[in-house]
Amino acid sequence: MTSDLNDIQREVLALKRERGALVLAHNYQLLGVQRVADFVGDSLQLARKSAQVSGYNMIVFAGVRFMAEMAAVLAPEVPVYIPAPDALCPLAAFVDGEKARKCRAQHPGAPVVLYVNTTAEAKTEADVICTSSNAVEVVESLGTDTVIFGPDANLAEYVRRQTGVEVVDVEPRGHCYVHRQFDVAQVELLREEHPGALVLVHPECSPEVQDVADIVCSTGKMVKVVAESRAREFIVATEVGLVERLQAAHPDKTIIPAHPGAVCRQMKKTTLEKVVHVLRELPEENLVTVPPERAERIRRALERMELTVHRPPVASVVAHH
Ligand code: 13P
Ligand code: SF4
Repeated sequence: MTSDLNDIQREVLALKRERGALVLAHNYQLLGVQRVADFVGDSLQLARKSAQVSGYNMIVFAGVRFMAEMAAVLAPEVPVYIPAPDALCPLAAFVDGEKARKCRAQHPGAPVVLYVNTTAEAKTEADVICTSSNAVEVVESLGTDTVIFGPDANLAEYVRRQTGVEVVDVEPRGHCYVHRQFDVAQVELLREEHPGALVLVHPECSPEVQDVADIVCSTGKMVKVVAESRAREFIVATEVGLVERLQAAHPDKTIIPAHPGAVCRQMKKTTLEKVVHVLRELPEENLVTVPPERAERIRRALERMELTVHRPPVASVVAHH
C-alpha cells in the first residue's frame, strides 16, 4: 500500500520505476528506508537476491559497503549504487588479505573461511565465504580438523562450539562494536520481567550472551522465528533496526530490544534523501565496483559456499507497498 507512505518515499517509488532499479535493504536499515525496498533481508538473502537481477537496470543497495560489493560481484551485468558510500562496517576492517595470507602460512592445509563481513580485498584470500546463517554448515562441510576463520571472534567461537572443529582466528580481536554492547545481566533481567519471552541472540554477541539465548541465529532466521513461533514476546539481541522491523510487522507480539542503544551508526547513514539522490543523479562516487579478477575469485569462494550448503528457497520479505 502506497497510501501510508510520505512524499519522499513516494518519490523513491516513482524514481525506482523510472530507472528500473532494484532496491535492496538490510534488516538494520531505518524503517523508512526498508519500506521503499523491493527486498529486505539478512546478508545471505540479499546476496542471493542480487544474483537474480534480470529485468532490472541497476541495484541500489541500502546497507554497508561490503554488502554492496557482494551485489557488484554477483550482478556484474548491472551497476550497483550505494546511497551512503562512507558506510563501512568496522568489523570488516579487522582483516585484510595480508593477515589472511599470514595465517594460512602458519597453518598449512587449513582452509580459509571468511565471514561475509569483509572487504572484497580480503575475500580474494578466502577458500570459502560464509554468513551468520550458514557458518556452522560451511565449516562442517569442509571435513577438516582445522579451519582459519575471520574476522568475527564471537562467530568463530560459536562455530567452534557447534562443530568441535579447531577454529583459528585470523584476528582474535575481531568484533562488532554493536553486538559487543549486549550484557548477560541485562538479558537475564529482561527474562525475569518477561518469563514467557523467547531470547534471540545474534552470533556476533559474546559467548556469555550466546549462552543465555534460546536461539542463536542470523537476522533472517530471527524474522522467521518471530513469524512462526507461538510465543508472544521476544527479547532480541541484535541491532535495533531489526527490532523495529519485527515490531512493525507483528503488532500483536511484543519485541523487546535486549539493549535499546544497540545502533549500527554505519547502517543508519543511509537516508531516504540519499536514496533519492542516487536514483536521480546516478553519481559516480556512489557506484560500487570490484575489479573483474578479484570478483572472479570471490565468485568461486561463493560458489563453494552454495555448493557445500543446502540451499533453501529465498525467504526475502517484500516491503509493504
Ligand atoms: P546478518 O547476516 O545476520 O544479517 O548479519 C549481518 C551483520 O552485519 C550483523 O551485524
Ligand atoms: Fe558491521 Fe556490526 Fe554494523 Fe553489522 S552491526 S554492519 S557487523 S558494525
